[in-house]
Amino acid sequence: MATEYHPDAVAVKEEGDVVKFAEVIAAAFSNDAINRFIFLGRESRPDHPKLRDPGLRVQYWLPLIRSRLEGGGILLHTYDWAGVALWLPPGVKKPRLSIDPLPEGAVEYQAKFDQVKKKYLGDRHYWYLNLIGRAPGRSDKGAIRHLIEPFLKKAQEQGIPAFLEATNARARDVYAHLGFKVLEEVRIGEGIVNAEGWVQPGGEGVALWAMAAGL
Ligand SMILES: CC(C)(COP(=O)(O)OP(=O)(O)OC[C@H]1O[C@@H](n2cnc3c(N)ncnc32)[C@H](O)[C@@H]1OP(=O)(O)O)[C@@H](O)C(=O)NCCC(=O)NCCS
Repeated sequence: MATEYHPDAVAVKEEGDVVKFAEVIAAAFSNDAINRFIFLGRESRPDHPKLRDPGLRVQYWLPLIRSRLEGGGILLHTYDWAGVALWLPPGVKKPRLSIDPLPEGAVEYQAKFDQVKKKYLGDRHYWYLNLIGRAPGRSDKGAIRHLIEPFLKKAQEQGIPAFLEATNARARDVYAHLGFKVLEEVRIGEGIVNAEGWVQPGGEGVALWAMAAGL
């Protein structure tokens, strides 16, 4: 069913669909360097047994996605789950991860991006693209554009910015193509992991980009 956002973007609300949403995100992010470091910490190696069970990745994402939906986040999918996105509307705070203790990668991520947001956004309200992914193997045109463009339009109408953290260069370039600009590059896990998020003493860390539109 169409939403107010785009005729091909369907709102996700029911538990079964939230699980589907988490499955697409887990699959899309299965090679994501920063999430690998957050998930496996200083045990982040290609032969880690946790990487053999894709169900564990879904279990990792599910509570995080559920808490964001409950907190006021908007979950959408396009073209029968070709693409999924989670937007936090202006004023909705990103709930902290409920993992105890918080992984060191997550602590550094939060601290560094909190600082960037404070520097560029101050107290302003903004639309926050928290998660987006394309289902591996799906090539439907517009699956990603239609999850981003309507929100940029809405933000523009409201006179407020949109913000996101790009976790890889491809994503950064897609966001730039759709209207976001890089504010700052942020490096996480320097000295602990390499650029791919695998443990490597003295490693360069994972590069991410804080980006905004309408600033
Ligand atoms: C990031 C991600 C969602 C982007 O989706 P995608 O399928 O790669 O993007 P698309 O091919 O649909 O491209 C979207 C638009 O960007 C353009 N684009 C694609 N690659 C591009 C590039 N390298 N540079 C510039 N523009 C690019 C496309 O042409 C398209 O524009 P159009 O509608 O004008 O034709 C997807 O790569 C993904 O799921 N990655 C893994 C998970 C992830 O990284 N999530 C985001 C973390 S921040």
